[in-house]
Formats: sequence, C-alpha cells, structure tokens
Amino acid sequence: MGGDAGDEPGDREEVPMTERKRMTLPDLFAKVAAGAPITWLTCYDYPTAYLQDRAGVDMILVGDSLGMTMLGFDSTLPVTMDDMIRHAAAVRRGAPNAWLVGDMPYMSYQPSVETAIRNAGRFMAEAGCDSVKLEGGAEMADRVAAIARAGIPVIGHLGLTPQSVSALGGFRLQGKGAVQAKKILDDAKALEDAGAFCILLELVPDRVCALVTERAGHCIIMGLGSGPHAHGQLLIYHDAFGLYPKFTPRMAKVFADAGAVIREGLEAYVREVTEGTFPAPANWFGMKDEEYDELLRLLG
Ligand code: KIV
Repeated sequence: MGGDAGDEPGDREEVPMTERKRMTLPDLFAKVAAGAPITWLTCYDYPTAYLQDRAGVDMILVGDSLGMTMLGFDSTLPVTMDDMIRHAAAVRRGAPNAWLVGDMPYMSYQPSVETAIRNAGRFMAEAGCDSVKLEGGAEMADRVAAIARAGIPVIGHLGLTPQSVSALGGFRLQGKGAVQAKKILDDAKALEDAGAFCILLELVPDRVCALVTERAGHCIIMGLGSGPHAHGQLLIYHDAFGLYPKFTPRMAKVFADAGAVIREGLEAYVREVTEGTFPAPANWFGMKDEEYDELLRLLG
C-alpha cells in the first residue's frame, strides 16, 4: 500500500471505521413499522463495504452475483461456498455495522436440509454474517424452516431467481400472468410461514409486489426491479455505479458512473507515466547527503 506525504512512507491518519451503531433485526422491523424504506446493496469486497457502511446502507448482500460481477462468468452457477465465505468475510471487515446477508450459492442448500443448515452456519461462523438468503418458494420451505430453527435469520428470494435461469427461460420478468403471479403470492406465504423474516422479490410486476407486501404479516418484503411498494429496495452495486462492463439492466439506475471516473483515471495514469510527469517529487522519498556519500564510499 502507498504511504502519504509524511516523513515516513507509512505515516497516515487512521480514519475511524464508522460512527454508526450496528444494525439489528429489531432496527429493521422498526424501519418497516415507521414506514421508512430499507436500503440494500450488493457488495463483494472490503473497500466497497467500507464506503457502503459509512454511507449508511442498512443491509448488504454478498450475492452469488459475484460470479458475474467479480469473476466474469456468464451466470452465478459456478460460484462455490468457499468463494462466498472469502468475499463475505472481507465485506464484514469493511462493514462492521450494516446487516450482512450471505447468499447461499448453487447446490449449497438444494441437495438436503442438512446441507442447507451446515452451509448457512458457515456464513455465520466463518464470515460473521447476520443472516442468509436462498432462492425458491414452497419447495424450499423445509430448508428455510430448518435454518430458522437453527437460530439463523433467513431471507427467501422469489420472482427471477438466477440459479434457475435455464428453467425460467432467461433473465426476464416473472409473474406477468395471473396464474404465475398467484404462485408468487402462495410461495411468499409458504416462506413466511416457514420462518423467513424477509423475502426478496426480483423482477416481478409492481402490483404483484404491492400485493405480497400488503399481505405480509411479520415479514419484510424487499424489491429489486419490482416497483416502489416493497418495504425497501435492493440494487446490484455494479449496476448502480457503472461497474459492470457487459450491460446495465433497465431496473437499475446509475447513481454515479464510477466506471467512467476510473477509466479516465487509468488513461491519465498511462499518459503521465508514459510522458514522465509521474512520479513527481511529492511521490518519492530522498536520502540525506551524508548517508548517500557513505553509501558511495561503501560501494567503493
Ligand atoms: O446474487 C445476488 O446478488 C442476488 C441478487 C440478484 C438478488 O441474489
């Protein structure tokens, strides 16, 4: 790591990690009760986690979308539990106060209830997560119930569920027709009854999201590309900050084009090193004349 302009390369002012208090489950439910929307972003690394925690983001999802956003795969399917734990632990180090959600990757919960409990436990014990998320409806209710019984807060995920992208026929709106929409409502009820404290609705029509939210009992409904009626919003960080090179989905707003800023900076770096204008004297460290003379003498 580079130092700053002090006498020693390592001289730098320590910045407090954050002045926030740690987000708890009662805090999240208090926001819902007060009608205050919950903010939620994905995050996969330490420096971004630090920025998100300081900005006051309520919840952070270490999503298996990291397979696409960070690792360059075309889907989330190649992501492993070890990948997830590595990234989730880094995010926890950067964001000590946001409510941290570990996303259970493909085949970490589908094979059996026991596999699901063990892998959910890894997110809590090895990465310091506050909760886990898994995809699927009524067919996953037994996994949700078992994880909740193990004392781990669980989030369900309905609508567009990327781990089932082949079965769903691609990344597309879910619940457009009445029958499919009714299934989403039934699945939401099954997940809540099984003990999910929160359900994410991804890419469903706004009115379907409104109905699920209205009918929720003690369950927080979060939306991604599903309109304004949920208790809060999730966005994929790379979509919201211009950092995914392949495309920006319509459901995302680019809040700041960090990708463009970084690209400009990279071009400036290449230019300045090429032209010899970097480094400047402020960027290097000298040596006292007497030490230098002694060095020359030692070298003969
Ligand atoms: O992996 C992820 O980031 C997700 C979102 C697409 C909701 O599950």
